[in-house]
Amino acid sequence: MSSAQGNEPSRKATVLVTGATGYIGRRLAQRLLDNGGYPLRLLVRNRHKVQAALLGRVEICEGSTFDRPSLERALAGVETAFYLIHAMGGGGDYSRLDRESAATFRDACIAAGVRRIVYLGGLGVRQTASRHLLSRIETGEILSARPGEIETIWLRAGVIIGSGSASFEIIRHLIEKLPLMITPRWVRTRTQAIAVDDVLSYLEAAISLPHQGDVVVDIGGEPLCFQEMMEQAAAVMGLRRMLVPVPLLSPKLSSYWLLLFTPIPYGLAAALVEGLRSETVVQNDNATRLFPAIRPVRYADAVRAAMAELEHRQVLSRWCDSSGGQACDIKDHDDPAGSILRDVRVVPYDDGQTAEAVFRAACALGGPNGWFRYNLLWRVRGLLDKLVGGYGLNRGRRDDTDLRLGDALDFWKVVDIRENKRLLLYAQMKLPGQAWLEFDIQPTQLVQTAHYLPRGLLGRLYWYAVLPFHSLVFPDLARTVVASAAKTTAGGGRL
Ligand SMILES: NC(=O)c1ccc[n+]([C@@H]2O[C@H](COP(=O)([O-])OP(=O)(O)OC[C@H]3O[C@@H](n4cnc5c(N)ncnc54)[C@H](OP(=O)(O)O)[C@@H]3O)[C@@H](O)[C@H]2O)c1
Repeated sequence: MSSAQGNEPSRKATVLVTGATGYIGRRLAQRLLDNGGYPLRLLVRNRHKVQAALLGRVEICEGSTFDRPSLERALAGVETAFYLIHAMGGGGDYSRLDRESAATFRDACIAAGVRRIVYLGGLGVRQTASRHLLSRIETGEILSARPGEIETIWLRAGVIIGSGSASFEIIRHLIEKLPLMITPRWVRTRTQAIAVDDVLSYLEAAISLPHQGDVVVDIGGEPLCFQEMMEQAAAVMGLRRMLVPVPLLSPKLSSYWLLLFTPIPYGLAAALVEGLRSETVVQNDNATRLFPAIRPVRYADAVRAAMAELEHRQVLSRWCDSSGGQACDIKDHDDPAGSILRDVRVVPYDDGQTAEAVFRAACALGGPNGWFRYNLLWRVRGLLDKLVGGYGLNRGRRDDTDLRLGDALDFWKVVDIRENKRLLLYAQMKLPGQAWLEFDIQPTQLVQTAHYLPRGLLGRLYWYAVLPFHSLVFPDLARTVVASAAKTTAGGGRL
């Protein structure tokens, strides 16, 4: 693993991390806190999404880059502000939102007297940039458009390899599931992937970088094409895989391929495929010149580290942690009282079981643990969801037993979790309405409720069309949660 640059910051002024509930931001906040030295403030859209390990040790400021007063509060007294935000994923005109967000943030930073913005964007050049990359480039240009008033360190990374990163999840799922892969020609396009730990080292070192003015720093490991990355990752995983590039596979077909075999939804798969079609290699030597102490690990070691984090259940963040949209995905979804259709199942439990065990059994659902007897029906529902552009079931879970607020759980999101009392999941599948699944753990019974708020006539028709499946799946689910709680209570162990 590489080490961060040795320059000590001149002052211990407050550092602001935005995007602190996202893939990079979560890890950066944890890294800065672990390494100490900086009073840390997080700007988040929902404070309940902040991981427990940070609570009480950082200042949390709720707000958004579209809300100037919240930015003013978050930026007061800040010397370095990390910009780790993007609007991609919510569909619509994300480029415009990205531009507005960056301009508002930059102006608020200048007004607050912030010395430096550190931004992480994407590697690549404008001429061949995908729409997504273009938006990342525009963001960097906007953040650094007032050089006399604030300086911007603009780091640019391509594929990031770490447990839970979208690119690594794609590579891992394809390798695990497909011994032989017919691949598009762009698997020969070169890129310079980088380990997430190295990205964090550059970000951390950027706080104290003794450089004045704006600078663009391209970061990456050794140049490899996607085919070599797949082959090396397969070797690390101890598997033999064969890739056969053919000229016929269009980007659209490739995106559908990723949709079927990986947890990535169509929109993100299409953006990644588009990005992989043109070379993304470093365009300057500023990384070695300005950060000589950081030596990015080799790609195979980055894969090894990511696999080790998975094996040791140390996945700190995942690509699906953030909302991927214009609004926070768990805000205002923690109260299904407005739903008008419900499926309620009450299962009493006796003295042999504890509320704690029932809660743990509910929290262990999904991912590799599955959904009990009607797993196949859940899988079919997941597949249908994937086919209409949803997440499907294979986002899985971050950890086999632990759940935290905001975690993705197959096609659900955890929107409320109260120790030994309540687990509330919000459906992120494509639906003509809104749905929740609630486990209310009462002292002597489990009350499991599927809530549904239909949208229009289609919404109601959907509910009645799936009633026969509900009558199989939901009673089984509630009964089996309680039954597996009985087993753990008797065995005294975890699920
Ligand atoms: N991940 C990669 O593989 C990768 C590769 C190269 C470059 N990068 C760059 O790294 C940066 C961070 O990416 P990421 O993967 O960490 O993103 P991410 O996981 O999607 O997280 C985005 C974060 O931004 C927050 N956010 C979105 N809109 C906001 C707004 N208007 N106001 C306040 N917060 C807002 C989200 O909050 P919610 O939780 O509320 O949604 C979330 O915390 C991006 O610039 C990206 O281009 C990432």
